[in-house]
Amino acid sequence: MSHQTVIVLDFGGQYNQLIARRVRECGVYCEVKPYTTPLDTLKAMEPIGIIFTGGPNSVYDPNSPQVDPVIFSWGVPILGICYGCQLIAHNLGGKVVAATDDSAREYGKTETYFNTDCKLFRGLPAQGITWMSHGDYMEKVPEGFALVAHSDACPNVAICDESRGFYGVQYHPEVNHTEHGTDMIRNFLYEVCGAKGDWTMGDYKNTAIAQIRKKVGDGKVLLALSGGVDSSVAAALVAEAVGSQLTCVFVDHGLMRLNEGDEVEAAFKKWDINLVRANAEELFLGKLAGVTEPERKRKIIGEEFIRVFEAEAKKIGQVDYLVQGTIYPDVIESGTGDAAVIKSHHNVGGLPDYVDFKEIIEPLRLLFKDEVRQLGRELGLPEYLVMRQPFPGPGLAIRIIGDITREKLDTLRLADFIFRDEIAKAQLEGTMNQYFAVLTNMRSVGVMGDGRTYDYTLALRSVTTTDFMTADWTHIPYDVLDRVSVRIVNEVPHVNRIVYDITSKPPATIEWE
Ligand code: XMP
Repeated sequence: MSHQTVIVLDFGGQYNQLIARRVRECGVYCEVKPYTTPLDTLKAMEPIGIIFTGGPNSVYDPNSPQVDPVIFSWGVPILGICYGCQLIAHNLGGKVVAATDDSAREYGKTETYFNTDCKLFRGLPAQGITWMSHGDYMEKVPEGFALVAHSDACPNVAICDESRGFYGVQYHPEVNHTEHGTDMIRNFLYEVCGAKGDWTMGDYKNTAIAQIRKKVGDGKVLLALSGGVDSSVAAALVAEAVGSQLTCVFVDHGLMRLNEGDEVEAAFKKWDINLVRANAEELFLGKLAGVTEPERKRKIIGEEFIRVFEAEAKKIGQVDYLVQGTIYPDVIESGTGDAAVIKSHHNVGGLPDYVDFKEIIEPLRLLFKDEVRQLGRELGLPEYLVMRQPFPGPGLAIRIIGDITREKLDTLRLADFIFRDEIAKAQLEGTMNQYFAVLTNMRSVGVMGDGRTYDYTLALRSVTTTDFMTADWTHIPYDVLDRVSVRIVNEVPHVNRIVYDITSKPPATIEWE
């Protein structure tokens, strides 16, 4: 089935995939293409609309990315964002200059006033916050264009020539900070480009499956399944595409949450894939015995994980493709220089060095987390897997302070389960992004029945965050905390005291180790 297509023409802006994601959110198929793509290729895609993205350059700089002006004669509507807006102005007879006056440079949240007669703003409030990030200024608006938005500092925030379907905005409608930004993009798609909304995540799934089949042919595919959302959705997608050619290796290090290993295994029963569950609990606990230093724990688990995975991979023999569940935010993060290492994160990202294969497949590379979850649902994965909160690679090992024993793991597993269970019963999952229990290494005196106890203190941790780089502790209602506390001390042996962690990140981190 063919869809209406929108092209996001990439001029190097940092939010380009976010624009694509907004277009998809509006039910329209879209592809991001570099600005260097030959015009014939773009034309052959028969776009119903084109969006010029932002970018770090200045349009009047001779070396800046340009576009062949022929594109303006195609009769295809164009929305220019930031640099894209200036590109339209520059090409159609306007004038863009560097803002010499500081007041004409705009960064951050800006009160903006809109002309709601313009199709882009139709049906939306006449005033609102937009997110600006530009140092250049449209001194002269091109012939035939009207000014349709302004701010206190800048008269030329948005321009349009409705007769030709050209629109330009100086701000970023794709970011959350811009109020009604997605509605503006939707207006461009539906009011200007005549979109029908003929694209769904189901279509994405089908296209991705077809691409994987084409690429893999009859080759062998290997995937390290962690039980997290990303690797599970990637596995389900590849399973749907090439079935028995796929081997998923699930290294069960014995540091999982309650029933987690069984749940992952059950979720993949419906596919005819080769699912190897490597039960390596003994091995991991043996290596971790007596180890108390957090970084040491992480290193041991990371190394053993790779060793077990490698051993399982060897049994399969030569594989052609390795699948990784990289998602778009990982792609951005890995490109951001060398920030100080606070904790050496272990996940399956480090595997390729150790396994012989021809190529990596990253089928989720362009998706954001909530899109990945949606795709998981399309593929029929159970809700508990699709909505699973992040869980660190080293598992419960970094939630037990001090040395790790099987007994402590059992204690923590049960307490953690009760905490999650009560949060679910109170329907509070949506109000927090990660929540778990930590077994502190501290013991204190308590009284139970008529006897004295000397048992562990268990900490509850819950954070609210968007990027996990900074986080606030969640204000869980007292009655819910109370129920969790009562249940844990009653149902979990060796715990006689519960505390709630009320530190943000920074200065604390989310995990305790
Ligand atoms: P911190 O504790 O650094 O955690 O504030 C930030 C987020 O990262 C997760 N985390 C990990 N994830 N491997 C992972 O895959 C790791 O080694 C690891 N350590 C922490 C943590 O759960 C939180 O979501």
